[in-house]
Amino acid sequence: MTATLDILRIRLDSAEQGHVLGFWDRLDDEARAALLDDVASVDLEQLKALHRRSLDQEPTGPASVEALPQITKGADSQADADARRVGEQLLRDGKSCAFTVAGGQGTRLGHEGPKGTFPATPIQGKPLFQVFAEKLLVLERRFLQPVPWYVMTSPGNHDDTQSFFAQHDYFGLKSDHVMFFQQGTMPALTADGRLILESEHALFRSPDGHGGSLRALFESGAVADMETRGVEEIYYFQVDNPLVEMCDPVFMGYHRQRGSEFSSKSVPKRAPEEKVGILVLVDGKPGVIEYSDLADGLRNAREDSGLLRFRAGNIAVHAISRAFVERLNEGGFGLPMHIARKKIPAKQPDGAIASVDGIKFETFVFDALPLARKVLLMEVPRATEFAPIKNRDGSDSPETSWRAQSTQFADWLEAAGVVVPRDPDGSPQHRIEICPLFADSRQEVAQRRTELPDSIDADTMIA
Ligand code: UD1
Repeated sequence: MTATLDILRIRLDSAEQGHVLGFWDRLDDEARAALLDDVASVDLEQLKALHRRSLDQEPTGPASVEALPQITKGADSQADADARRVGEQLLRDGKSCAFTVAGGQGTRLGHEGPKGTFPATPIQGKPLFQVFAEKLLVLERRFLQPVPWYVMTSPGNHDDTQSFFAQHDYFGLKSDHVMFFQQGTMPALTADGRLILESEHALFRSPDGHGGSLRALFESGAVADMETRGVEEIYYFQVDNPLVEMCDPVFMGYHRQRGSEFSSKSVPKRAPEEKVGILVLVDGKPGVIEYSDLADGLRNAREDSGLLRFRAGNIAVHAISRAFVERLNEGGFGLPMHIARKKIPAKQPDGAIASVDGIKFETFVFDALPLARKVLLMEVPRATEFAPIKNRDGSDSPETSWRAQSTQFADWLEAAGVVVPRDPDGSPQHRIEICPLFADSRQEVAQRRTELPDSIDADTMIA
């Protein structure tokens, strides 16, 4: 240990990070070994460069931003039907899998525990993970083939996520079709570029962003597991959207037919200030400009028709080929690091914990778009595919998501001839929930007409 310590001390001192060994003399052997491992894994040069970049007042923006051509779901019913057949065959053949990124810290929602445990449905308050599990069960029943489900966690929520699934008996799924793996982490820095200690023997680290999934899928063995199972296509979605159309066969079908390596869904942005990234061509290459990085001129730009010029809002649903993930990892790749300034609890030299201004680093999965040989963008209806839960109240809150879910169920019921009273703004007057295992589409609801009430006169659960 002495030799390693000496080398490390020299490296740290020359990078002006010697303070991380400040508690060394007080540590027992186990804590010392942990700290050595922790620090040895840090790329000090990379952090130095990142810190230098964080000091740039005016990062250079792209030279050109153009709208990205996209197809629209529902615009060509024949082509959609053909794509659907391809996507359904993928499910029948066990070639599609589901992939949830659930490593985020969910701070905005203020929910204790992993975000996937948040009660998401309008009547029963089923947790997000259960919503996804039931949608997967429906697919398994329909195509007589289980859909493998990969769930990416992070060190802070991995154990809680796994125990939640175990406590709930995997919501009816077989546990060997649900795989968990952890994403990587990045150390944080103070505003003046110093590493932060979380405790006497550990650096403060945060999850390395959902872009970390592209490496973690590979390094965790998930991609190898997919290969063994015969999975070729990955249906990527975020943990926050209970309206996700699970493994959408139309989308997966187009992705496959067109030989796309990375496909993304969009919805038309509601308003310039809506907090979604936009899918665009950046300097001629496909990509996403995050809402926080969007210059006002682009945010507010309109076409002659009055529509927003850049309106392809990223709903964070992607189809990614397994071969693409393999190619990236086998060739060595890096995604750009994005910088977030946050308050961070830091161990001080006197042993106290103080909140300091810190810098966290994250990569974003959509930054892999320009690395794909072929991409596809598909606009989908917001009302049936996107109602995320992000904030405690206001937009993208449980309330707005419940309303969107109830509205979808109300539409299905009305199409089957059930009377659903609505408010002037079109939302149903009562909360409605239909369990996907009862019916998960307009057609299925219509087929079960005899089991439905004639009208909805109160909050209603149909299961
Ligand atoms: C995200 C997208 C935005 C998109 C919007 C749609 C980013 C940077 N922006 O915004 O373009 O329009 O969703 O809802 O993603 N996660 C991890 N590990 C991490 C960080 C996040 O797994 O290290 C997961 C979270 O658990 C969550 C998802 O990624 O499922 C989104 O993270 P979040 O930071 O909440 O993104 P948004 O700001 O909502």
